[in-house]
Amino acid sequence: MAIDYQERIPNNVDLGENRTLQRALEQWQPRFLDWWREMGPSDFAAAEVYLRTATSVDAKGWASYGAVKMPDYRWGIFLADPVAERTIGFGDELGKPAWQQVPGEHRSTLRRLIVTQGDTEPASVEQQRLLGHTCPSLYDLRNLFQVNVEEGRHLWAMVYLLHAYFGRDGREEAEELLQRHSGDADKPRILGTFNEPITDWLSFFMFTYFTDRDGKFQLKSLAESAFDPLSRTCTFMLTEEAHHMFVGDTGIARVIKRTLEVMKELGTEDAATIRAAGAVDLATLQRYLNFWFSSSLDLFGSESSSNAAGYFATGIKGRPDEAQYPDHLATDAVAEVAMPDGKGGVTSESIPMRNAMNEVVRGSYVRDCEIGVKRWNRLIEKAGYATTLRLPSPRFRRSIGAWAGAPVTPEGEIIAREAWERRLGDWLPSESDRAFVRSLMQKVTEPGKMAAWIAPPDRGINNLGIDYEYVRLQ
Ligand SMILES: [Fe+2]
Ligand SMILES: [Fe+2]
Repeated sequence: MAIDYQERIPNNVDLGENRTLQRALEQWQPRFLDWWREMGPSDFAAAEVYLRTATSVDAKGWASYGAVKMPDYRWGIFLADPVAERTIGFGDELGKPAWQQVPGEHRSTLRRLIVTQGDTEPASVEQQRLLGHTCPSLYDLRNLFQVNVEEGRHLWAMVYLLHAYFGRDGREEAEELLQRHSGDADKPRILGTFNEPITDWLSFFMFTYFTDRDGKFQLKSLAESAFDPLSRTCTFMLTEEAHHMFVGDTGIARVIKRTLEVMKELGTEDAATIRAAGAVDLATLQRYLNFWFSSSLDLFGSESSSNAAGYFATGIKGRPDEAQYPDHLATDAVAEVAMPDGKGGVTSESIPMRNAMNEVVRGSYVRDCEIGVKRWNRLIEKAGYATTLRLPSPRFRRSIGAWAGAPVTPEGEIIAREAWERRLGDWLPSESDRAFVRSLMQKVTEPGKMAAWIAPPDRGINNLGIDYEYVRLQ
């Protein structure tokens, strides 16, 4: 059977010449398609979606646009162009040649990291599978599906590494990536946030802003890896990830914009009145923000971590944009990290820098999250209101690390546990918040029309108008 691999699976990894990889992928691909049918976007298999497909890694090729039925999307395998004579940029192996093969002693660690990253990709598709039924516009529906097919491709990217570099156990791991499911009682996805349901579009925008941004920082850390194929794979994935965060950033901005219009029209800041007019009051939006930000912070791991130190020492996983740091060894440096003192207060602990890498990366992530919040606050300020949205303290509602379970307010204050539990409902979306937001979720599919709770985007996709028929429903 002659298959044109470049046509079916666009790639720059010489798939057409690599029999072993072909065999592995030929076995896996039908199962991937079964998974997509069962666990991917429900009911839109026949719709023609205006999607971009990566067909090569150069500036033109990774963004070729056209109407595609999602099951026919060409999930490809791309690595960023190699850097000639690339060397390891940090840790004990600093300056030595990057690895083109997996060193035996790091095999299981690398495999675990690739599986953990790979697991998040299909997980988010599963989390978002029902959202198409309540899309606020065809523009948004298209963006949802774009994110979904690209997360599917990110799964392919990780499966490629498992198949190409990890032999039999890699193939087994690739199978299991299709068997765990988000929120499944018996076989859940590996990381907590990826088991949280996403049943409304406000959650979707929060997820793409905060959780896809965690993805950005993980990919940036892995892009520094001494294992060159992993580094190149993640570098290319980052180009797609940028759009996912754009969807979240602009999605939240559009919700705020619409809310401000309603506030102006009605001359009120009263949540109940705003809700009655069909918009999301800013306090509810803040509670959703608190939920997704705090959940995403856990994904970076513990403040002090011997695993993280090991990854850095060996060269397996670095810091995002490692080149920006003056010291790539981090052997003598210490980090001052705030920890609970066990008596209701805070103490500063000196941790060897390598052990504090999770906290270093989390700090960069928090600063990146701030940028959107500032932009959203400018919209509110310009409209003449004093309300400000803010990121809760990174110690608020943590489930992992030194602050796990600590009764900390969004302002960062440690309070009595009873009071904290009582007030948690003020800080996180309540059942009635969620029910209200769900009640707004009505499907709008007339080209150019928007649901009443969200403002139109500033512009369409790829220079097309907002009223373009981005999804042709059958
Ligand atoms: Fe992804
Ligand atoms: Fe993403």
